[in-house]
Amino acid sequence: MYISDLALSDFRNYREAVARFTEGVITIVGANGQGKTNLVEAIAYLSTFSSHRVSADAALVRAGAAGAVVRAKVMSNGHPTVLELEIIAGRANRARINRAPARTRDLLGVIRTVVFAPEDLALVKGDPAERRRYLDDLVVARTPRLTVVRGEYEKILRQRSALLKSTGGGRRVPGALMSTLDVWDGHLAAAGAQMMAARSALVSELAPLVATAYRSVSDGADEATIEIRSSLEKAEQRAAEGDSEAGQPPTPDPLDIDALTARLVDAMHLLRPQELDRGVCLVGPHRDDLVLRIGDLPARGYASHGESWSLALALRIGAFELLREDGPAGETPILILDDVFAELDMKRRARLASMVGEAQQVFITAAVPEDIPAELTGRRFRVTDGVVELEEEAPPGAGDNP
Ligand SMILES: Nc1ncnc2c1ncn2[C@@H]1O[C@H](COP(=O)(O)OP(=O)(O)O)[C@@H](O)[C@H]1O
Ligand SMILES: [Mg+2]
Repeated sequence: MYISDLALSDFRNYREAVARFTEGVITIVGANGQGKTNLVEAIAYLSTFSSHRVSADAALVRAGAAGAVVRAKVMSNGHPTVLELEIIAGRANRARINRAPARTRDLLGVIRTVVFAPEDLALVKGDPAERRRYLDDLVVARTPRLTVVRGEYEKILRQRSALLKSTGGGRRVPGALMSTLDVWDGHLAAAGAQMMAARSALVSELAPLVATAYRSVSDGADEATIEIRSSLEKAEQRAAEGDSEAGQPPTPDPLDIDALTARLVDAMHLLRPQELDRGVCLVGPHRDDLVLRIGDLPARGYASHGESWSLALALRIGAFELLREDGPAGETPILILDDVFAELDMKRRARLASMVGEAQQVFITAAVPEDIPAELTGRRFRVTDGVVELEEEAPPGAGDNP
C-alpha cells in the first residue's frame, strides 16, 4: 500500500499542509525542529492512533488550535480509500472513511505502517513496558478488534488496582469488598487471557522473522531470540513449589483463552494477600515481558550499543515481514524510517537500505541528506517551519556517500 495524498490542519507545527506522494522512496529533509518527524507521525497516527513520541493526544494539536485534522488517501491493492481523523484535545477523535462518518476503530488496520526511530533503542534497553507496547501495537495492527480488549484491560486494571489500594494494605478486608474483588478478578482474567493468547500467537510467528532479520543486519555469529516471560507461569511455579503434593502439572496451552482465564483467576486468588498488602495487581499481561536474547545473554544490560541497534532494527523488520505476510500478495506495509540513518554505521546503513527496497513506500527523514544512502534518494521533500515543499528531482548520484 502507499499514501498518495496527505493533508494536515493544525497538526503539531503544521497549519495547513498538503503533499502528494508516489510509491517508492520519499525522503523528507530539513533542519532539526522543522517538522519532519511531525509529518511522518501524522501518517503513523492515522494507522495506529498512537505516536512513537507521546501518549497524550493534546500534544498533536497545534498550540492554540482547538483541534487537528489528518487526512490521507491510501492506495491499497489498487483501491483508493480516504481516511480522515479529527483530533480534538480532551475529547474523542472523530473519523471518516471515504467522507462518511465512521467509528474511529474502523480506521485501524486500513493503513499499515512500521516505524523505526531512534526511540526504538528503548525496545532493547528500556523497561518491559516498551516491549509490551511493541507487542500490543502489533497485536492490534493484525487484529483490530483487540483494540477494544486492550483498552478494556487497561481500564479494568486501573480500577482493580484502585480497589486494592483502597484497603490500605489492611489484612482485615470486609467481605463485601472481597466479593467485589472476585468480580474484578473475573473481568481482568477474561480480558487478560485474550491479550496473553494473542501475544503468544504473535511471538511464535514473529520469533523466526526477528532471528532472520537480526542475522542480516548484524555480522555477529550469535542468534537473536525472543520469548515471553509470563507472570502467570511464574506465579504457578511458585505455587507448585509450595505444594509438595502436586505432581508435575501438564504443560498448559498458551493459546487456550478459557484455560488462561481460569488460570489467571486461580493465580489472583493465591496472590490476593500479597496484592492487598502491596496494592497492586501482580499477575497478568501488564506484568509480562518480552525477553530478548543475543546468544545466551539477555540483550538488556549485556548487548553492546551496535548489537542493541541491530536488535531494535530486527524487531521492526520482523514486524514489517509479519504484516506483509498477513496482507494480500504484493502489498507491503508503509515503512517509516525517522532519523535513523544518522545513527547507524555504514554497514548497517547499507543493510537497511537493501531491505528498504522491499517496501512499496518508504518515508525517510534526515536532517542531513548525505546520511541517506545514495540508492535511496527518491522524491525529496523539504520541510521548513511547518511548510512542506517538493524539491526538484535529485540529480543522479546526488547524496552519494564517499
Ligand atoms: N502541538 C504543537 N504545536 C505547535 N508546535 C509544535 C507542536 N508539537 C510540536 N511542535 C513543534 O514542532 C517542532 C518539532 O518538529 P519535529 O517534527 O519533531 O522536528 P524534526 O524536523 O526535527 O523532526 C518543534 O519546534 C516543536 O515546538
Ligand atoms: Mg525528528
